[in-house]
Amino acid sequence: MKYFTFATLLLIITFIEATMNAIVPGIYFDRIFLVIFENTDYIKAIQQPYLQDLMNRSNGLLLSNYFAIAHPSLPNYIATVYGSTAGITDDDAHNVSGKNIVDLLEANGITWKAYMENYPGNCFTGDFAPPDTVLYARKHNPFISMVGISTNPSYCSKIVPATQLDSDITSNKVPQFAYYVPNQNNDGHDTGVEFAMDWFEDWFESRLQKSSFTTNTLFFITFDEDDYGDNNHIFSGLFGYPVKPPNNHSDDTLYNHYSFLSTVEENWDLEDLGRNDVNATPFTKYLKHN
Ligand SMILES: *[C@@H]1O[C@H](CO)[C@@H](O)[C@H](O)[C@H]1NC(C)=O
Ligand SMILES: *[C@@H]1O[C@H](CO)[C@@H](O)[C@H](O)[C@H]1NC(C)=O
Ligand SMILES: *[C@@H]1O[C@H](CO)[C@@H](O)[C@H](O)[C@H]1NC(C)=O
Repeated sequence: MKYFTFATLLLIITFIEATMNAIVPGIYFDRIFLVIFENTDYIKAIQQPYLQDLMNRSNGLLLSNYFAIAHPSLPNYIATVYGSTAGITDDDAHNVSGKNIVDLLEANGITWKAYMENYPGNCFTGDFAPPDTVLYARKHNPFISMVGISTNPSYCSKIVPATQLDSDITSNKVPQFAYYVPNQNNDGHDTGVEFAMDWFEDWFESRLQKSSFTTNTLFFITFDEDDYGDNNHIFSGLFGYPVKPPNNHSDDTLYNHYSFLSTVEENWDLEDLGRNDVNATPFTKYLKHN
């Protein structure tokens, strides 16, 4: 009897673990991993050798007609999770109410995390960190501006220091929706795009060897805005197993930051946010079915 009870308990634990680790399959991909850089005109970005190399690989696709939404940084970041700029026109601290993408993911059991380089964790709401540096910047973390996240400890705990990514890769726990924000050196904000792409090449290539990072994963590489020189035309690109590019590795469909949301929504058949995500074209033209 004792033995039976123990075996039953083990079974229940195994079942709960399986449920918690369950993947919600998508139409095109099981995971989307965004990495966002700063303040670079399209023309300048496509001259970067690493981006050219990546886009020309068998699973690379340049989105050659992709536009940011606004200036300065914050309204663009807000757009990627909220579906509008929420009327924000500066980089100050804002609290935005209403549904955001996280609500749609949570409602459908899709795991998510926002990886922020140099973020102190613990739902830190300050403007910069660590003390006396500007490495982490709140204006590049749209999640903490969402009242529905900042006031919900469970949601807020999923904004994590980016150092957690490597332990998540090791334990095969990289979430299905991952939003990665390099610090203000690595994203080019304080250093320029050449520095950022050197960082990106090292960071990306060392992890691309790991299947717990790459399996059925669509990598989405983008910039927040241009450098005020190119009508907010920015570089964006797709990379990974789901991508089946045409011969020229280039998709000239008109996209913008709201296309990120519509892609996520279409992939997992989510509801929408009722904002600009509704009519945005998803960048699924050259993705194969999962
Ligand atoms: C592919 O490489 C060539 C030569 O480096 C470059 O001109 C072209 O822009 C690259 N394609 C993409 C999509 O980056
Ligand atoms: C945003 O909300 C926090 C509490 O969650 C508050 O401390 C802060 O003052 C608010 N900021 C603005 C700009 O309203
Ligand atoms: C690349 O190829 C696609 C598919 O054939 C085509 O629609 C697009 O116009 C081409 N882009 C360029 C820049 O030639």
